[in-house]
Amino acid sequence: MPSTPSSVFIRIDHARPLRHQIYTHVRRAIVQGLLAPGVRVPSSRALADELAVSRTTTLAAYGQLMAEGYLAGRRGSGTFVACDLPDARPMPGPRIARSTRAVTVSNRGAVLAAIPPPARRLAGPPRPFRVGTPALDLVPVRLWSRLAHRRLASVTRSHLDYGDEAGLPAFRAAIAAHVTAARGTRCDADHVIVTAGAQRGIELACRLLLDPGDRAWIEEPGYAGARSALVAAGARIVPVPVDAEGIDVDAGARLAGDARLACVTPSHQFPSGVAMSLSRRLALLKWAQRTDAWIIEDDYDSEFRYGTRAVPCLHGLDGEGRVIYVGTFAKSLFPALRLGFLIVPPALREAVLAARRAADVHPPMLDQAVLADLMHEGHYHRHLRRMRTAYRERLAALADALARRCGSLVRLRPVTAGLHAVADLAAVDAGLVAREAAKRSVEVMPLSAYFIGEPRDANALVLGFAAAPPESIHDAVDQLAAAIDAARRARCG
Ligand SMILES: Cc1ncc(COP(=O)(O)O)c(C=O)c1O
Repeated sequence: MPSTPSSVFIRIDHARPLRHQIYTHVRRAIVQGLLAPGVRVPSSRALADELAVSRTTTLAAYGQLMAEGYLAGRRGSGTFVACDLPDARPMPGPRIARSTRAVTVSNRGAVLAAIPPPARRLAGPPRPFRVGTPALDLVPVRLWSRLAHRRLASVTRSHLDYGDEAGLPAFRAAIAAHVTAARGTRCDADHVIVTAGAQRGIELACRLLLDPGDRAWIEEPGYAGARSALVAAGARIVPVPVDAEGIDVDAGARLAGDARLACVTPSHQFPSGVAMSLSRRLALLKWAQRTDAWIIEDDYDSEFRYGTRAVPCLHGLDGEGRVIYVGTFAKSLFPALRLGFLIVPPALREAVLAARRAADVHPPMLDQAVLADLMHEGHYHRHLRRMRTAYRERLAALADALARRCGSLVRLRPVTAGLHAVADLAAVDAGLVAREAAKRSVEVMPLSAYFIGEPRDANALVLGFAAAPPESIHDAVDQLAAAIDAARRARCG
């Protein structure tokens, strides 16, 4: 059978890789029907001669087309277009134009896009004093890998199907047991809804409970992620000042007594680090009950306390079902896991599940199963104990190094919980220090970056002490001291 001349379907440009061009032209000719199933194509040798390329090139292109099922060889009689073609995959389209034209998003989208990311980080791996990153050097990766492997080895078809929208029951049971034992509240697996991190939980709750234009309290200073979730729900944000006892409920009532929701971090206010006093907790609950408002309790790093007794979480004090508790494994294990949870009042459960169906259906089940095993087999509890010890050491390294290198210029506020500290600066501007520190590859955030309005008492740095071991913390404090010197000189000069 004569073969189709290659000149019909191949145009070679010697400036570009030849093998790929031949592969692409032949494949396109087949997909477009120019070369019908069963038609013989030129031999690799004839094609090489005709196109003035090496035979290795044509053989490689044909080899790939055969491997993908477009061509078939018949011993002794040549190479043919396969009779049974693979599903015609669309050919790659033209490159997407890199338009610089401004896009039009909704007003809500524009406000959302203007919110800075939760932490402006330097590029690269965890380093001192990255905020929000736990000790990734101490994550039990081998154990995780063993448990994951065991789960995968026993996977069934039902494990691969859509699962329980609230999350894997065994995982929810482990979460309920943990929260009941550790956080001074009572819940069972039916109250727990697994989410893709705390952020997704906050976003779900805001979307479900707020109408566009509703007012919502947010802590000032506060967590930018909560702000994004509220803006995404169309809420009007009311920043409410935080003092030494946590969010100022009276101020909130004065500013927006009719708010529909308050988003708070009572066990360790982000970023100031204060714990909400019991009287404030009771006042907040009373306000919510009186005005029929909701409280989102973001308990993001409650696992780590240093020498102080935990105040019961708001959820444990709430007799009226006004509190939605948000937890995460981002700090106790690792952020990339993207697993967190909500504990919702029973009356809200079905509505939350409906909102979740509109979003992500459920987070990945296999990771939930691995984490459930980690918890049920006691590894999680042991990991938390080890991490508390490690964080105490890292915090002590920070306090020591600051006292030694920076003296009275830097004053660390008391740290009772969590993974970061706040350090007040004397006689030098925190923003300037942060910029000088970045030049020395040290990551610090000025406290002022967490305010929506005018910062108050905010000439301070937020220093994550969890992300790096003590020796790196000592080195980084040397750099921070140099940054402070440079910032002072810049101010004087
Ligand atoms: C106060 C606060 N809440 C929630 C989160 C988000 O947690 P996740 O990573 O689980 O979404 C963070 C992250 O740093 C945080 O600082």
